[in-house]
This record gives sequence, C-alpha cells and structure tokens, in this order.
Amino acid sequence: MSSTSTNVDLRLMSEKDLEFVNTIRNHDSTRKFLRNTNLISLEDTKLWFKSTQPKWFIISCDGNDVGYIRTSQDTAETICIGCDIDVDKRGNGYARAAYKKIISDLYDKGYIVIWLEVFKNNNVAMNLYNSIGFIEINSSYKDERQRVTMVHIRK
Ligand SMILES: CC(C)(COP(=O)(O)OP(=O)(O)OC[C@H]1O[C@@H](n2cnc3c(N)ncnc32)[C@H](O)[C@@H]1OP(=O)(O)O)[C@@H](O)C(=O)NCCC(=O)NCCS
Repeated sequence: MSSTSTNVDLRLMSEKDLEFVNTIRNHDSTRKFLRNTNLISLEDTKLWFKSTQPKWFIISCDGNDVGYIRTSQDTAETICIGCDIDVDKRGNGYARAAYKKIISDLYDKGYIVIWLEVFKNNNVAMNLYNSIGFIEINSSYKDERQRVTMVHIRK
C-alpha cells in the first residue's frame, strides 16, 4: 500500500545505472506497457545512452534504487515524462512521490506543459495519473492498442 509520506530522491542517470534500468525496462510487466515492447540488450542501451545523452532520473529511497523517471521531447518549456518501478518495489508509493518531485522541479525550472502517454489498459498507471492531476487530452489506436495522451494541470 502506498504511503503519503514516501520520500524519494532523484539523481541524473549515469552509465553505471544502465544495467539497473535495462533490467526493469526488459521485465515483461514493464515492457507490455511501453511503446516498444521488444527486449533491448544492455549493449544497445549503452549505445543509446552514448548517442542521445538522455536526461533520465534514478529514483531512490533510503539509499536504495527503486526505479527511474524517463524524459523525452524536451523543449525546455514542454516535456514528456514517464516512470517505471522495479517489480518488487511497486505499490509502495515510489512512483507517486517521484512524479510529485519531478513535476514540482520542472515547474520551478519554467516548464509550462508536462505531458505523458499511457496505454488505456494500464489501470495502475491510469489511476496514478488521474490522482496526481493529469487529464486526458487525446487518444489514438496503434496496432490495436489504445494510447492516451495526458497533460498535467497545475493547481
Ligand atoms: C505504474 C507504476 C510506475 C506505478 O508505480 P508504483 O510505485 O507501484 O505506484 P505507487 O505505489 O506510487 O502507487 C500510486 C498509485 O497507483 C495506483 N496503483 C498502484 N498500485 C495499484 C494496483 N495494484 N492496482 C490499482 N492501482 C494501483 C493507485 O492509484 C496508487 O495510489 P494509492 O496507493 O494512493 O491508491 C508501476 O506499477 C510500474 O512500473 N509499472 C510497470 C511499468 C509502467 O506501467 N510504467 C508506466 C508506463 S506509462
């Protein structure tokens, strides 16, 4: 069960984090909710990291890494975010706490649109996003999967 007091830290992902990220990303329960559902080798993940220099963040709690925040399509005013949590660490409030932290940080940095994409059948993620202030603005089907675009509304 989630706790409202869950405290997480975010640090910029570096090359040494890639194995951790790759393991979570490749787990069946994660991949099935990603756009690209293929397994990705650690080698390819390292090449991707070197060539694109992504600004992703490792989520940790009490010094233990529990998951990561993805960012993409960053224009310095608008940004797409996402999050995957280690399989054994789900349901402890880590994603909720990490989203709250990154969203607050992004607004502080001057971002005006924070958005995400989620598959409609991802009930856990849909519940989470609805509860932290995202609303659906669009929906589309690709390969018979319904993808929802959501944007964060600042209170
Ligand atoms: C979606 C995901 C990131 C949520 O991470 P998490 O740390 O387990 O989520 P939290 O513990 O912070 O839970 C936050 C909210 O999610 C929802 N939620 C969590 N577990 C749930 C479950 N088993 N059933 C239904 N809703 C659930 C609830 O709304 C919950 O809030 P509450 O506990 O106050 O009711 C995680 O399950 C995950 O990594 N899933 C696989 C990859 C994925 O789907 N990524 C997102 C792609 S858009």
